[in-house]
Amino acid sequence: MKIAVYPGSFDPVTMGHMDIIQRTSQIFDKVIIGVLNNRAKSPLFSVEERVKMLEEVTSELPNVEIQSFGGLLIDFVRQNQAQIIVRGLRAITDFEYELQMAQTNRVMAPEVDTLFLTTNLRYSYLSSSIVKEIAAGKGDIAAFVHPHVAEQMRRKLFG
Ligand code: PNS
Repeated sequence: MKIAVYPGSFDPVTMGHMDIIQRTSQIFDKVIIGVLNNRAKSPLFSVEERVKMLEEVTSELPNVEIQSFGGLLIDFVRQNQAQIIVRGLRAITDFEYELQMAQTNRVMAPEVDTLFLTTNLRYSYLSSSIVKEIAAGKGDIAAFVHPHVAEQMRRKLFG
């Protein structure tokens, strides 16, 4: 069984992430979305909230499962008997950091490969940080996130 891990902060999950998840679910038997539990980053949403939102927006993809993880990504990948890490590449600006992570992970875990999917052009400009900025400024985020996520953001920011 081919298992892929798609890791990230997902604070919150955007349409760009959802496009990658959907495409990855067509390539692999099982996709595990690994939500990083990193308090140092002081996320807007708790890891539990991020996991819940991902469960909601991927409910129609039967081979996608959501888990949180702390510590090293390769340990999480090994615990789940996955062979591949999937990451989305939006633009050249992503490349240096992604290459560094992929190369480092491969030195630590030579049996695990990183697969890059180019982000759909429609979402190539999108990031969770920009979505948070627009939402905080009461802008319309309907084009950038699932309606469920937009509602959770509204509640989180404005009660
Ligand atoms: O969505 P992000 O914030 O770009 O995702 C970054 C993520 C979670 C993939 C990366 O920070 C990560 O893998 N963190 C876990 C710690 C780890 O394994 N670090 C070494 C990577 S070389």
